[in-house]
Amino acid sequence: MEPILELESARLLLRQWRDEDLPEFAAMCADPQVMRYFPATLSRLESASSIGRIRGHFAEHGFGLWALQRKDTGQFIGFTGLNVVGFDAPFTPATEIGWRLAREHWGQGYASEAAWTALRCGFDRLSLDEVVAFTTLANLPSEKVMQAIGMHHDPADDFDHPRLDADHPLRRHLLYRISREQWLQTLHG
Ligand SMILES: CC(C)(COP(=O)(O)OP(=O)(O)OC[C@H]1O[C@@H](n2cnc3c(N)ncnc32)[C@H](O)[C@@H]1OP(=O)(O)O)[C@@H](O)C(=O)NCCC(=O)NCCS
Repeated sequence: MEPILELESARLLLRQWRDEDLPEFAAMCADPQVMRYFPATLSRLESASSIGRIRGHFAEHGFGLWALQRKDTGQFIGFTGLNVVGFDAPFTPATEIGWRLAREHWGQGYASEAAWTALRCGFDRLSLDEVVAFTTLANLPSEKVMQAIGMHHDPADDFDHPRLDADHPLRRHLLYRISREQWLQTLHG
């Protein structure tokens, strides 16, 4: 299948990463508020290698975490997209939907708009049967995005993230899911 390099929503382009995105992306990943629900902020080098991994995922799978660009200002504002889960858990193999936006772009519906666009791509173009999302228990803003795009939560699916130590405070995660059938129901009411 042809790689899906770009998607578009009303206010956003979901596009390939450019080398020029690194300063903004690194600033976002160095912001303690943005990274509040992750184990640590990222150094510039760690951010650069994240972009490398994201590009590698696109090369391998033909989809991934798209860079987000506002159409009105042209600014890079973060990422949203689909990612093959890279660890073993009761719900894997699975494709997850994920997002991270720079703080000045929160509260304007950009994450939900981009997430909706990525989810539609997952079902419409990639023909996935299911998409999952997960986050640490306390990350309510992220959970709201999951709910906004019609995902469902069953507490029986919650899990301990295998990449975090047993005593790590962020270890417990919520799992949200949406099946292709549920997505079609959301679309058609
Ligand atoms: C998770 C994250 C992307 C959510 O961003 P967000 O801006 O809160 O999410 P949205 O873009 O969907 O915006 C929704 C909010 O914008 C408001 N809004 C304003 N204009 C809007 C519009 N045109 N359409 C929809 N919502 C709009 C909504 O009322 C809603 O506010 P509320 O949360 O107070 O109800 C952001 O908090 C983030 O980047 N966090 C750090 C990274 C992270 O934790 N990622 C997830 C890891 S699992």
